Amino acid sequence: MLNGKRILLIVAGGIAAFKCHDLIRRLRGQGAHVRCVLTEAGARFVTPLSLQALSEDKVYTDMFSLTDESEMGHIELSREADLLVVAPATANILARMAAGMADDLAATVLLATDKPVLAAPAMNVRMWTHAATVANVETLKKRGVTFVGPNDGAMACNEYGPGRMSEPAEIVAAIESMLGASATGPLAGQSLAGRRALVTSGPTREAIDPVRYISNHSSGKQGHAIASALAKLGAEVTLVSGPVAVPDPMGVKVVKIDSADQMLAACQAAGQLDVAIFAAAVADWKAASPAGAKIKKQAGAPPPALELTPNPDILATVSRPGPQRPALVVGFAAETENLVANAVDKRKRKGCDWIVANDVSPATGTFGGERNTVHLVTAEGVEAWPTLSKDEVAGRLADRIAAQLGRPRSVKAAE
Ligand SMILES: Cc1cc2nc3c(=O)[nH]c(=O)nc-3n(C[C@H](O)[C@H](O)[C@H](O)COP(=O)(O)O)c2cc1C
Repeated sequence: MLNGKRILLIVAGGIAAFKCHDLIRRLRGQGAHVRCVLTEAGARFVTPLSLQALSEDKVYTDMFSLTDESEMGHIELSREADLLVVAPATANILARMAAGMADDLAATVLLATDKPVLAAPAMNVRMWTHAATVANVETLKKRGVTFVGPNDGAMACNEYGPGRMSEPAEIVAAIESMLGASATGPLAGQSLAGRRALVTSGPTREAIDPVRYISNHSSGKQGHAIASALAKLGAEVTLVSGPVAVPDPMGVKVVKIDSADQMLAACQAAGQLDVAIFAAAVADWKAASPAGAKIKKQAGAPPPALELTPNPDILATVSRPGPQRPALVVGFAAETENLVANAVDKRKRKGCDWIVANDVSPATGTFGGERNTVHLVTAEGVEAWPTLSKDEVAGRLADRIAAQLGRPRSVKAAE
């Protein structure tokens, strides 16, 4: 989504500088070209060599380098980028930016640029809440600098509070949003930075004996695409996945399970969530008493009877009112007939907020296919979405979720 975009990444001297490696990898994975400027303090935390290896470009550190200046002058360096990203943005570099200083290459480039600037602050909580930093951030915002984070959390200095640099996935989402490279609909630009999301995906496998199981044709493509789309908008995503052949999405914590019981346990272990999306095709039933050893075929004997018992209802369990209930619970309804009526009924029965209903009758090719035709059922009514790729359905749903949840608490607190 960032194909061909040129990012000038300014790495300042904070502990969080190590996250730049992951940030560069993610940006390049999206097709962006990343060029790095490293401050003198930044070079105490990460090496020019590591940034150069990951960006596959020269790393600029020295303002008075004859070679650098003849190859790429400092003014040109600031102007040839589409976006300047300061990550981590230390208290020091924010102060220098606010004061309009040009005392090293990073500050000079930031003063000389006519391109948008994104800052990802990272510092001790007292530094972040100090009146000087608050005033500097205020000044920079008024001048048009965009901020992502900081997040609340435990810090390297054994303190807790706002000051942790946003995760690389959140920074990438902010970059996409600034460069207009995220979703293309009317809701483009929404962010899920600071939000915690759970997605379930794929089928479950219910053991009959150690070698046989009950399962279904779910490929996990739609659930995995949703996890990826939420992460791209900056959410911290846990993906609980049954056995699938699709690769793990980038920037997502993946918990692999087999059975519905294991899936429920993994969902309950995910902690406090803002949104939970249940895209997995959970088996409705499991064997009442799975055999401990392989059931042997007996010559002449009738086939063994298979007694089934219901699996836990994960969607209904998580939708139950209570302090642990996520603000938004989204279920999926895979139907082969009476799609909308069944989905409207399911939303009420399960107590969830939205249902994404899809027709999985064999003629549609939805199971395992690349495209999906869904209806979004909410308390307000039913929306018929056009046939889209599974990635497009995921992007559209992620945008709707971001719009529903509104702006993240940590960003509000920082303003
Ligand atoms: C171990 C260590 C960790 C530091 N971490 C941070 C940090 O996270 N945020 C910050 O604003 N300053 C931090 N500092 C202080 C900066 O490195 C210092 O202010 C430096 O001058 C920043 O220069 P720069 O902004 O030009 O990179 C740290 C210093 C040390 C020694």
